[in-house]
Amino acid sequence: MKKLFGVIGDPIAHSMSPAMHNDLFDLYGIDAVYLPFHVSKGNLEKAVKGLKALGVSGFNVTIPHKTDIISLLDKVDPLARAIGAVNTVKNENGLLVGYNTDGPGFVKGLEYMAADLGSRSALIIGAGGASRGIYFSMAQAGIERIDLYNRTPEKAEELVNSCPFKVESNVIGREAAEKSLAEYQLIIQTTSIGMVPDTESLPLSPENITRNTIVSDIIYNPLQTKFLKEAARMGAAVQNGVGMFVFQGALAFEIWTGIFPDVNRMEMNVLRNLGG
Ligand code: ATR
Repeated sequence: MKKLFGVIGDPIAHSMSPAMHNDLFDLYGIDAVYLPFHVSKGNLEKAVKGLKALGVSGFNVTIPHKTDIISLLDKVDPLARAIGAVNTVKNENGLLVGYNTDGPGFVKGLEYMAADLGSRSALIIGAGGASRGIYFSMAQAGIERIDLYNRTPEKAEELVNSCPFKVESNVIGREAAEKSLAEYQLIIQTTSIGMVPDTESLPLSPENITRNTIVSDIIYNPLQTKFLKEAARMGAAVQNGVGMFVFQGALAFEIWTGIFPDVNRMEMNVLRNLGG
């Protein structure tokens, strides 16, 4: 029987996940279909019960459900529980099991670009949900030092204090961050600053970025934020949010099928979707 996969969220019409996963099912000869489901906040519980009753094989979870879904699942992977967000669910013999592939996807995308993350030190800009997944996953991956800069420092402190994995960290202010950009081998921008329509905004002054740094921005609309453009101008290696999106999808696909898929093909698919 054809297997059913999908993604639940609100809004969902422009999700790039269906095209990406359906293409992979075709590629690997898997008899399955992946559909977008528009589920409003108030309908989450009913939707999850319905998906379970229908026997769906797995689904992705996106805004605004990543946190609320946790209490509706039968089992949650420890990293996803620590992060407090689930983006991937697998039906394991009738039980819905939740995973987080956003943070691990980001790390895998970074490793794809630069091996040997362990000895590096990183600065993360932002302390929201996305930052939390990335920070915890990088800490779990064994990176030596991760400093955080956030407009609201209390949120960054809370994030650092709630991390179950050992990592050296300082919460720093804007001025200190701007001054010390050259000291980091990795700079990761996780806020919404620079996203359409405010494409001229910068999270902080990129002046002190050097060519020895990898700068990653999780935004993919636009494909190059002003921050990334400035970093590239300083000679830094840059990575946009397509990498994280592709690798979270690749890890979800692997959880569902056991196959780690062709990420280059996935990236082409996403870029086609974005019109890039
Ligand atoms: P997400 O789940 O996408 O990470 P979020 O949890 O709402 O979204 O977090 C948004 C992040 O972007 C936060 O770090 C937020 O900073 P605050 O904690 O100070 O709110 C940051 N952010 C969003 N808009 C910002 C702005 N205009 N200036 C500075 N920081 C901003």
